[in-house]
Amino acid sequence: MLNTKVEQFLNRQVEREEYSANLYISMAVWAEVNGFSGVADWLYAQAEEERLHMLKFVKYINERGGRALIGAVAQPPSDFKNVKSLFEEVLKHEQFISQSINEIIGVCIDERDFTSQNWLQFFVNEQIEEEASVQKIIDKLKLIGDGNLYMLDRDIMSLRTTTAQ
Ligand code: FEO
Repeated sequence: MLNTKVEQFLNRQVEREEYSANLYISMAVWAEVNGFSGVADWLYAQAEEERLHMLKFVKYINERGGRALIGAVAQPPSDFKNVKSLFEEVLKHEQFISQSINEIIGVCIDERDFTSQNWLQFFVNEQIEEEASVQKIIDKLKLIGDGNLYMLDRDIMSLRTTTAQ
């Protein structure tokens, strides 16, 4: 049976993963209508991964005798200054998610739920990959400076390294 406190934190993560998916769709919309179709594809693919993450949490909670809760999700921002600041926001958000996962692991350790702690390792590794792949894009954007974003937009999908199951 899932520890009640762990269950609460896992459910908090269900909501956070869903928010992540919505945030990236909102960013993809901005990119698409501003002519950055490659950036939009990257963000749509990222949103799909977040949806898979959310379902992973939902299924795990239910499997362990808990009950996943699907609540209201905050509205994500819809306007972004430019591509670089958009990706800086992605990185900031992923760092927040990494912190959130670490917090759940802390609760698992406190409550001696080593099964959930072990299960969460997937997300620890996933966050390392996600932060690294966004950082790679930001590094390229810094190289470009105020230059032309056409090539980055064209090639951005080849920079994807995440492989969530
Ligand atoms: Fe589901 Fe990007 O963390």
